[in-house]
Amino acid sequence: MKIKTLLAAVLLAAPILSWSAPITIKFSHVVAENTPKGQMALKFKELVEERLPGQVHVDVYPNAQLFGDDTVLQAMILGDVQMAAPSLSKLQKYTDKLQIFDLPFLFKDLAAAERFQKSDVGQKLLMSMRNKGLIGLGYLHNGMKQLTANDPVIIPSDAKGKKFRIMTSDVLQAQFEAVNAMPLKKPFAEVFTLLQTKAIDGQENTWSNIYSKKFYEVQPYITETNHGLLDYLVVTSVEFWLEIPEENRGVIKKSLDEAIEYGNEKALAFDLRDRKLIADSGVSTIYTLTDSQREEWVNAMRPVWNKFSNKIGSDLINAAVQSNEE
Ligand code: SIN
Repeated sequence: MKIKTLLAAVLLAAPILSWSAPITIKFSHVVAENTPKGQMALKFKELVEERLPGQVHVDVYPNAQLFGDDTVLQAMILGDVQMAAPSLSKLQKYTDKLQIFDLPFLFKDLAAAERFQKSDVGQKLLMSMRNKGLIGLGYLHNGMKQLTANDPVIIPSDAKGKKFRIMTSDVLQAQFEAVNAMPLKKPFAEVFTLLQTKAIDGQENTWSNIYSKKFYEVQPYITETNHGLLDYLVVTSVEFWLEIPEENRGVIKKSLDEAIEYGNEKALAFDLRDRKLIADSGVSTIYTLTDSQREEWVNAMRPVWNKFSNKIGSDLINAAVQSNEE
């Protein structure tokens, strides 16, 4: 059986238990509504409630109103929240495999990441947390990450000794250590204040997060490094998913797939829009790298791959590298 058919069978076919309708899906996330994830979640609510009126209700909680990124998955396992879309960098507690998405300079762009995510190996990763009680229902894009800082950070030696906030990922920690910087794992909701009070010197993020959370207003320098990917996994708990009556589960999954497609279109549009809004604001200076500056970053960060190749699997890394070929 082809892997996609097999996954569809696991995702859609399961014992039907009776459910005291209506079902409420609490969808918790940490970003603003005017972002790819914020828009995807609202589209998902709209589609599900239109297609299953009175049967399924979706409550979306943006901006870490319900749970922060440090607590949401534990809350999901306990049944206090039913869906979330954490960045792939925040899942290492549940599987080593998804750390592949954090390797610096792995994907040349979002299209390459998408080819990998849609491939058989990429689809198989959706089930990599199943033994921990979580399943991935689909990938969602945000964009490529840029570096923001108090001082210009244009070549790797500029990062030396600076404190950078990172998501909870050992790969990201190794990436900053590779340029002699000091990485600090902190929840997204704390980043603005940490930057504003200068408790940290910089951070890495996408244009839409830098704009929507106003990081650019407290970070005078942004370097357009595109050094890594920030994408998401829409996650639910195995227990919740399998308890949904089969016919409703199919409608929910189809609605989610359509909402993700919509969110991915927004990701491309917001990336361009928010870069321009930041550039036009004149508040922070944007540096673009020359080829030789970029090469310096690649040479400094690329050794991180070897450090994690046993944990992630070199076959998986090779497959991701292949996805850069059209
Ligand atoms: C997100 O986009 O969900 C947050 C990313 C971050 O923690 O930097």
